[in-house]
Amino acid sequence: MKFYIRTFGCQMNVNDSEKMAGILKTLGYELAQDWTEADVILVNTCSVREKPDQKVLSALGEFKKIKKQNPNAIIGVCGCLAQRAGYEILQKAPFIDMVFGTTNIHHLPKLLQEAKEGNKAVEILEEIDSSEFELDQYPTVRENKYTAFVTVIRGCDKKCTYCIVPTTRGKERSRRIGDILREIQFLVEDGVKEIHLIGQNVTAYGKDLGDVKFYELLYAVADIKGVERIRFTTGHPRDLDEETIKAMADIPQVCEALHLPIQAGSDKILQAMDRGYTQKEYLHKIELLKKYIPDIALSTDIIVGFPGETYEDYLETIKVLKEVEYDQVFAFKYSPRPGTPAADMPMAETPETLSKWLNDLINMQKDITFKKNLAYENKVVEVLVEEQKEDGQYVGRTRTNKLVHFYGRDNLLGEIVDVKIEKVNRFSLEGVLN
Ligand code: SAH
Ligand code: SF4
Ligand code: F3S
Repeated sequence: MKFYIRTFGCQMNVNDSEKMAGILKTLGYELAQDWTEADVILVNTCSVREKPDQKVLSALGEFKKIKKQNPNAIIGVCGCLAQRAGYEILQKAPFIDMVFGTTNIHHLPKLLQEAKEGNKAVEILEEIDSSEFELDQYPTVRENKYTAFVTVIRGCDKKCTYCIVPTTRGKERSRRIGDILREIQFLVEDGVKEIHLIGQNVTAYGKDLGDVKFYELLYAVADIKGVERIRFTTGHPRDLDEETIKAMADIPQVCEALHLPIQAGSDKILQAMDRGYTQKEYLHKIELLKKYIPDIALSTDIIVGFPGETYEDYLETIKVLKEVEYDQVFAFKYSPRPGTPAADMPMAETPETLSKWLNDLINMQKDITFKKNLAYENKVVEVLVEEQKEDGQYVGRTRTNKLVHFYGRDNLLGEIVDVKIEKVNRFSLEGVLN
């Protein structure tokens, strides 16, 4: 019996899919190379904007064909769109056998059994089930052998007015530190070198537990022998305190890279979004980061065209991008999400104007990204080697999360090596083993 998982969305979904693969392996299933040979297909969905919603429906249209060649095949839909609109999807795509939400992934064995018996297995929990920690008993099945996501906190207590995530992921629940450290110990023993702590809002880690703070978690992870690199995503600017920034600078394994979403540069828009900071406060955090970690690579998320955003507001975002000089920016046009407060707010501009603003912003950032990459020319950087192509070329990442292609000697996979950068591209660096 084989399974196939198609994952949409963010790092949380990627890690959830790795867990589901672990559950299915525990149940005796093997990973299929392709969906056409699968007995179980899972679609792990995202609902953060309208586009991902549509992608899910077209993927389902494709997977439906499996039933012709394998009438017993089971198609399941899970993740954020399932949590938000599982019953609607079931109506639109009645051939689906299984629908479950984001907080009951650990019930997959039971749901699969129901579906195999020919029943529609539907379970979308409104309340978070405290049995969620049962997920910890399953391993993760990862594509990348040397770097691993570790979920440290689930859910989000913020109420950004555009965002569906608090609805789809529920309130903040930190995992117990002992469980996290045990998982990391296991990963390191399995050959993992880089630990990527993840959550919708990692910097809020421990608030609900009361006895441990995020920066203490960083120190505890660094104490595990074999952890060579630590990253974390996503930090909310409001919860990023000086203690955390100091710990980042102090702990050798914490990489000089941070994704710190600003969303918009205008104070009026930030307030309408309920982000809980002003442009000045955000820039102060950036200043602190650059002070303690001078060579830090920063990235951010931007929403263009939040309701009420005028050209003057948009120019404030551009101003911030020019001032901070991010290494990478993920920018999207605002997309109204059902049931969120912003969904009812009027737009100030036409969709065409907003598309132009978004395009201009992306083009401007391309030049900044290239300029940041140029600083690597002729430099020697530390690379964790993650992959080898057929022609022998290695692919890895710097501590600042830059993709590096290089040639070297045999057996470098999983090693941390020095690479001299000889060529700089827009999205990657090329070099030779130093
Ligand atoms: N917890 C993270 C973000 C999670 S959602 C944070 O607070 O930064 C990932 C990104 O999707 C967000 O940073 C935002 O830029 C984008 N996003 C969320 N809702 C959106 C919407 N309604 N329209 C457009 N982009 C949105
Ligand atoms: Fe959404 Fe805001 Fe929570 Fe991020 S912090 S997940 S943008 S509500
Ligand atoms: Fe999408 Fe859910 Fe992540 S909406 S961005 S998959 S938390």
